[in-house]
Amino acid sequence: MTETLLGNPLRDARDRRLPRIAGPCSLIMFGVTGDLAKKKLIPAVYDLANRGLLPPGFALVGFARQDFGTESFAKVIKQAAKDGARTPWSETVWKQLAAGIRFVPGEFDDDQAWERLADTMAELDEQQGTGGNHAFYLSIPPGLFPVVVSQIKKHGLAESSKGWRRVVIEKPFGHDLASAEELNRIVADVFASESVFRIDHYLGKETVQNILAFRFANGMFEPIWNNHYVDHVQITMAEDIGIGSRAGYYDGIGAARDVIQNHLLQLMALIAMEEPVSFNASSLRLEKQKILANARPPARMDLHTAQAQYVAGWAGGEKVRGYLEEDGVPDGSRAETYAAIRVDVSTRRWAGVPFYLRTGKRLGRRVTEVAVIFKRAPHQPFSKNDIEELGQNALVMRIQPDEGVTLRFGAKVPGTTMEIRDVNMDFAYGGAFVESSPEAYERLILDVLLGDPPLFPQHEEVELAWKILDPVIAHWKTCDTIDSYPSGTWGPASADEMMARDGRTWRRP
Ligand code: BG6
Repeated sequence: MTETLLGNPLRDARDRRLPRIAGPCSLIMFGVTGDLAKKKLIPAVYDLANRGLLPPGFALVGFARQDFGTESFAKVIKQAAKDGARTPWSETVWKQLAAGIRFVPGEFDDDQAWERLADTMAELDEQQGTGGNHAFYLSIPPGLFPVVVSQIKKHGLAESSKGWRRVVIEKPFGHDLASAEELNRIVADVFASESVFRIDHYLGKETVQNILAFRFANGMFEPIWNNHYVDHVQITMAEDIGIGSRAGYYDGIGAARDVIQNHLLQLMALIAMEEPVSFNASSLRLEKQKILANARPPARMDLHTAQAQYVAGWAGGEKVRGYLEEDGVPDGSRAETYAAIRVDVSTRRWAGVPFYLRTGKRLGRRVTEVAVIFKRAPHQPFSKNDIEELGQNALVMRIQPDEGVTLRFGAKVPGTTMEIRDVNMDFAYGGAFVESSPEAYERLILDVLLGDPPLFPQHEEVELAWKILDPVIAHWKTCDTIDSYPSGTWGPASADEMMARDGRTWRRP
């Protein structure tokens, strides 16, 4: 469809109203009754439909153990869409979407169920006009990938003479380097690499894509974006929520694998990478890969990493329980809910500039930001007193919430003395743009359906990220104890000590 539109001689390529609309296709979801599907994926599909970005020939197929009929499945989906939609609810849009909704009940290892899925796909091509184009969305625990992928192959669903087939894989991509390589072998055996879309939903966020615009569309930041001017970088992803009902997933994973391996190392790569020759997928991935390949975990793990678990405390004015008291967490669990590491990037641009990455559940508030902290001016012609309140200049990209960018610098306090104090200059999305940002999953699902790969990490990036993290996790396994921090605070004392050793402090986001 896009090709046809672009080929339309009456269309002007400069027309920004020209939307990127997916062509006829279906999205086949595994794990459709799970949390992610209900809270994020289904609402994103509805929002895309509501924005007119899905074609009339679109279908959504659910494959799950539970035995709904297609009708009651459609009801569950409708509720999820209604609860999570970002855009206003429209029965008309829903009706159109519902015409393409199907449900296939069955276990993943049940061949008959897969035959039913194959029949459903053929039927959709006929009735709904999906044109043989189908994307398989694996929103399932990684342990189930092998069976699902091999069933797709066994039943001949990975290829088609008349349309495309793609597979979408949700993280975690393995739990270490070896398992990620194994997973990649399984997937690569069935799908060509250009048909594999690995989701790191951070890359779908507007503010994350804006890192590229900020760095490479402007002239004034690039000259100072290096070790001559930058002292260090802090990347923080803090959440105020606990693990909720996700113990089954989270306890075997912990904060570093859950978030640092993917979201935070991707953010670091975008901040540190050189300018790509273009924004196509291969150029972009190549530059990110160079950073990940040159990123080193700390030489002294004991000095430059921290891990901890939340204990009871306060969140949003309510008393909350500790990690070990959460439902489904095994007694004496050692899973970390807070992780902080120092990473050094051995390149000419970044040698000597540490990147500090931290994440945690049940912290002071929900905020994700990248703070580039600059060196102090080499000389201060002011008295010590005058600059007592002057910190280091900082450029802070607020990924969420209150999306925007803040520049912190010193200014003279009005009055008769030369007193200098930190002030902020602020760009806020809300103040500059009228349109609200789409959800990350809207962008990513649309890109999958369009076959547009730049925002999806390749397996090389995934494996390089594990190479950075594996030694850290191996070190943590040798520790006898794990630190703790009260819920609602900013993490354990050990993380502050880690910064203090380098003569630095964490920013209070
Ligand atoms: C997911 C993690 O990738 O990101 C979750 O598995 C986390 O543990 C979530 O809560 C946070 O996403 P966001 O978009 O709210 O920052």
